[in-house]
Amino acid sequence: MNNGIIILDFGSQYNQLIARRIRELGVYSEVLPFDTPLYEILSRNPSGIILSGGPSSVNAENAHLVDKALFEKGIPVLGICYGMQLTTHLLGGKVKKGEKGEYGKAKLQIQKSNALLSGISRFSTVWMSHFDEVETVPDGFNINGMTDVISAISDESRKIYCVQFHPEVSHTEEGARMIDNFVFNICKAPKNWKLTNYIDKTVAEIKEKVGDQKVILGLSGGVDSSVAAVLINKAIGDQLQCIFVDTGLLRKDEAEKVMKNYGEHFHLNIKLIDAKDRFMAKLKGVSDPEAKRKIIGNEFVNVFDEESHKIEGAKFLAQGTIYPDVIESQSVKGPSAVIKSHHNVGGLPEEMDFELLEPLRELFKDEVRKVGEELGIPHHLVHRHPFPGPGLGIRILGEVDEEKVKILQEADDIFIEELYKNNLYETVSQAFVVLLPVKSVGVMGDERTYEYTAVVRSANTTDFMTATFSKFPWEFLENVSNRIINEVKGINRIAYDISSKPPATIEWE
Ligand code: XMP
Repeated sequence: MNNGIIILDFGSQYNQLIARRIRELGVYSEVLPFDTPLYEILSRNPSGIILSGGPSSVNAENAHLVDKALFEKGIPVLGICYGMQLTTHLLGGKVKKGEKGEYGKAKLQIQKSNALLSGISRFSTVWMSHFDEVETVPDGFNINGMTDVISAISDESRKIYCVQFHPEVSHTEEGARMIDNFVFNICKAPKNWKLTNYIDKTVAEIKEKVGDQKVILGLSGGVDSSVAAVLINKAIGDQLQCIFVDTGLLRKDEAEKVMKNYGEHFHLNIKLIDAKDRFMAKLKGVSDPEAKRKIIGNEFVNVFDEESHKIEGAKFLAQGTIYPDVIESQSVKGPSAVIKSHHNVGGLPEEMDFELLEPLRELFKDEVRKVGEELGIPHHLVHRHPFPGPGLGIRILGEVDEEKVKILQEADDIFIEELYKNNLYETVSQAFVVLLPVKSVGVMGDERTYEYTAVVRSANTTDFMTATFSKFPWEFLENVSNRIINEVKGINRIAYDISSKPPATIEWE
């Protein structure tokens, strides 16, 4: 089986994007570390191999290399950016440090078309992101395209194709066509990736693996754990026991909503643990963000550990781990891998004595959503924004108390409601309200007020590593501000956060 396209990961931030683009074409694709042994790559019987981009230089001392024999197996290879330089370097060509280097958009001119560039305009815009360049091509290679530098080369007799730019990025105007050419015309990959098949296959695997044992799962109400729960429930019904911990730091009415949406509607077996007082007691007097994060994370593990041990005979722990988590944890290098160190609250310590069940670990987020919808979970639930593990604990700046939680929940709920009403919710990646420990003077009727300031925050991003603030119409923001100030007792001033990430972060703590 398999016959997918393997992407060898040299650290480019775009690797996951290549895999997603290929899967969107209905072809299986996976990302493996660049130093995966060749026999392991071959054992997967790939239709093609992509050597990804990466931040390093092939001429550097500990350059990331691959076994040259990879090019001799008759499997089509596409080298992208660093992958092109690597191919050149290994097959006898020369790579030099670029004189001026190209970064950003460039004009590609096709000199001599090949199967990869078939159907591409003679001039098109491409996205470059590297400073090294090919000086001389290896024996047997043709130069197929130029920008200011050699930008597309190939040895069609050996089915080796290379481009200096990134076809997977939308700035490369005709990149989708190139990927399509590689996958179907060159690799002749079978269309074997369908999410309905995935559900059937996974349900069968879960049944087989679990038998008549019990499984527990920490349900957070977020997309991943909810889809995992419904999928496992489809396989083993009541043998799945979900645990939902109400930390007291969740969005307004979250516990009730989860019990209704998943308990009543999907008949999931959910044990609701009201741990509000425990969390609040631990947070008393603490205002440092990292200290709050640690307290909340530890307390969650304590509660979950206690509860899971009350469930007799549970052998498996299910988690909503998804493919980007897997890629990030296996990633050997690369700046893209290390920036994000956050863990979801569902991330439980390994010493827990369970076998792991991770039915979504092959899926990208958009695929998880599709699986969720396929399983009958309503659209609005599978398209919820992410919510951080420490919850409102890091959106109430400084010390957290029950009164502040209540104020923030009300304000946040109004903002989210307005986003839905105005069809804006799904145009942004994450939106919420932050409560500052700052009071200011206002006037309400004839009365002077002295109350909290809240900040409305909304970010647009594809990977949560960089983000821009959402550019909403003034009228929308005005309405949100009026509603919060009029309806939420305790807030008399609203600010809108117009900072981008970096240098700001999406959350405030
Ligand atoms: P920042 O604030 O770093 O957030 O720009 C990026 C993404 O990560 C989420 N986030 C967290 N998620 N535990 C989590 O589970 C955390 O401690 C945490 N901190 C930030 C944040 O909501 C955004 O989606």
